[in-house]
Amino acid sequence: MEKSRPYVILSAAMTLDGKIGKNKTKIKLSSKKDKTRVHRLRANVDGILIGKNTLDADNPMLSVRYSKGKNPVRILLDSRGTIKSSSKIIQSCNKIPTIIATTNLISKKNLCRLEKFPLEVIKCGKTSVDTVKLLKLLYKKDIKKILLEGGGTINWTFLKNGFVDEIIVTITPYILGGSNSISLVEGVGFKNLFPTKKLKLEKIQKIGSELVVYYRI
Ligand SMILES: NC(=O)c1ccc[n+]([C@@H]2O[C@H](COP(=O)([O-])OP(=O)(O)OC[C@H]3O[C@@H](n4cnc5c(N)ncnc54)[C@H](OP(=O)(O)O)[C@@H]3O)[C@@H](O)[C@H]2O)c1
Repeated sequence: MEKSRPYVILSAAMTLDGKIGKNKTKIKLSSKKDKTRVHRLRANVDGILIGKNTLDADNPMLSVRYSKGKNPVRILLDSRGTIKSSSKIIQSCNKIPTIIATTNLISKKNLCRLEKFPLEVIKCGKTSVDTVKLLKLLYKKDIKKILLEGGGTINWTFLKNGFVDEIIVTITPYILGGSNSISLVEGVGFKNLFPTKKLKLEKIQKIGSELVVYYRI
C-alpha cells in the first residue's frame, strides 16, 4: 500500500462491449446478487468516490444497503459545486458522511448553499479537482481505502495518474454500442497498452450469466 494516498479499487459493471452507461441516462447493468457483492465491498472500504456526471445520471445513494456494515464516506468530484440540494446524497448527508470536492470555479452562491448542509466541502484545484491533493487530504483524514465507482472520465483520471491498485469489473450479458455510450475508461487514452506489464488476474467469479474479474496492478 502507498504511504501518502489511499489504496484505490476501481469497481464497475460493464456490458460485454465495454460500456458502463449512456449519457445522462440511468441504466441498470448488474444483477441483485452482484449488487450485494458490491455492497459487501463498500462495507470494507473507508470511502466511495464518484464523478459529477455519474451523480447526474444515476442520483446514487452510495450506501451499504444489501449487506451489513458501516457506510463509507461518500466523496463527489464536482468542480462547480452544482450538486442539487434534492439529490439523494445531499438529502442523506445528515446520516452518511459526505465530502464534496470542488474547485475555484464554485460560485459563492453554491458554496454558501452547500455549507448549510452537514457535509464537508473541500476546495482543491483550479478548474477540475486536483486528485493528487485530494487523495493526500483524504489519507490524512484516515480514509485509507477507496472504492472508485466511476464513471469513465474519473476512471481515466485515476488510471492515468497511477492511482488505481485493483480493478474489479462485472462483465454483464448485455451489449450497448453507440458513440454516445460511456466506456469503462474515457479521456484521451493511453498511447500504448496500459500497463506495459500485464495486469495480474487474481480471481474470477461466475454469478449466473455475469462474470466478475479481479485484477491487481
Ligand atoms: N456501470 C457502472 O458501474 C457505472 C459506474 C459509474 C458510472 N457509470 C455511468 O458513467 C456515466 C458517467 O461517466 P462520465 O465519464 O460521463 O463522467 P464521470 O466520470 O462520472 O464524471 C466526470 C466529471 O467529474 C467532474 N470532475 C471534477 N474533477 C475531475 C477530475 N479531476 N477528473 C475527472 N473528472 C472530474 C467533471 O465534471 P464537473 O466539471 O461538472 O465537475 C467531469 O466531467 C454515467 O452514464 C453513469 O451511469 C456506470
